[in-house]
Amino acid sequence: MNKISVVLLALALTSQIQCQAEEVKPASISYFDTYNKWRSNNRRVFLNKEEETYRQLVFFENLNQINAHQKNNEATYTVSLNQFSDYSDEEFQQIILNKRIQMSQPEIQEEQQPKGNLRKTVSYPDSVDWRNTGALSPVQNQGWCGSCAAFGTAGVLESFHYIRYNYLVKFSEQQLLDCARQAGFDAYGCDGTWQQEYFKYAIKHGIVSANSYPYVGYQTACKNTSDLPKYFPQSFRFINRNSDDIKDAISKGPISVTIDASNWKYYRGGIFNGCSRYRQLNHAVIAVGYDVQGNYIIKNSWGPYWGDEGYITISAQNDCGILLSAIQVLS
Ligand SMILES: *[C@@H]1O[C@H](CO)[C@@H](O)[C@H](O)[C@H]1NC(C)=O
Repeated sequence: MNKISVVLLALALTSQIQCQAEEVKPASISYFDTYNKWRSNNRRVFLNKEEETYRQLVFFENLNQINAHQKNNEATYTVSLNQFSDYSDEEFQQIILNKRIQMSQPEIQEEQQPKGNLRKTVSYPDSVDWRNTGALSPVQNQGWCGSCAAFGTAGVLESFHYIRYNYLVKFSEQQLLDCARQAGFDAYGCDGTWQQEYFKYAIKHGIVSANSYPYVGYQTACKNTSDLPKYFPQSFRFINRNSDDIKDAISKGPISVTIDASNWKYYRGGIFNGCSRYRQLNHAVIAVGYDVQGNYIIKNSWGPYWGDEGYITISAQNDCGILLSAIQVLS
């Protein structure tokens, strides 16, 4: 892009904003002000002027969407600017969400909700919340790498280990990211995988602590861990696709779930009910509780400044596919 087209783009952008966001007056000053603050808070650096202009354009489009959401009185959740605010929806899908899960998740079957008036035989509590129990490590940030499955796996193993031994060890996502493929599992580093591949890897090779093998946010050569202490989980299972079994499992410990996070980009707080009916399971996270209304509490791996201190609550009615691919560690 040459200088003239950059200027034209900027002009076109300014007029577009004035058309769309009627309430922002004068449009450009307020928007540029918001952008400059956000940019310095997020310490954005750009390769060149073209990239800078492009990112600014995307930011303004995102800001329009955020402003539109704020005006929707029926929304049960809030949104805000965050680290994704100068990424387009397509970039968000491609960089942050899990390409492998998106491409090859087996056909999703009908949910196996209990039929008729069968009485509930499981007796899980009315609500569960593993936050503030000591069973969860602090929320991590996967960065610009589709490594959600590594976080989903390591985090669930941490909780299982804690509940069993009353002792929290932060396990290594980087080991899973670096070593699972080399060990013959169906895993692709920052291009993602399915959590079951990482669970199988940990069962066979053990998982070391994050202190001994820290997260760097991109795939590196698998380190030799033969001299490091390891935890060997023994078994896991897929949970039946109904909310009774899922809640029963959560009441015993956090579980690993694959979910549709396509519309989570701006989530800030409240009960999220913005998932599409057409689910695309593209993100691995940890279900750490549910409330009395049946809404699910989810630990994400987009850092503590995303969402509700790194967590999101998903509506029981619009559950983003949480029942469809959930894994519980058994032993
Ligand atoms: C890893 O380290 C151990 C001990 O330090 C050594 O015996 C082993 O050969 C190493 N493995 C590889 C693949 O380099």
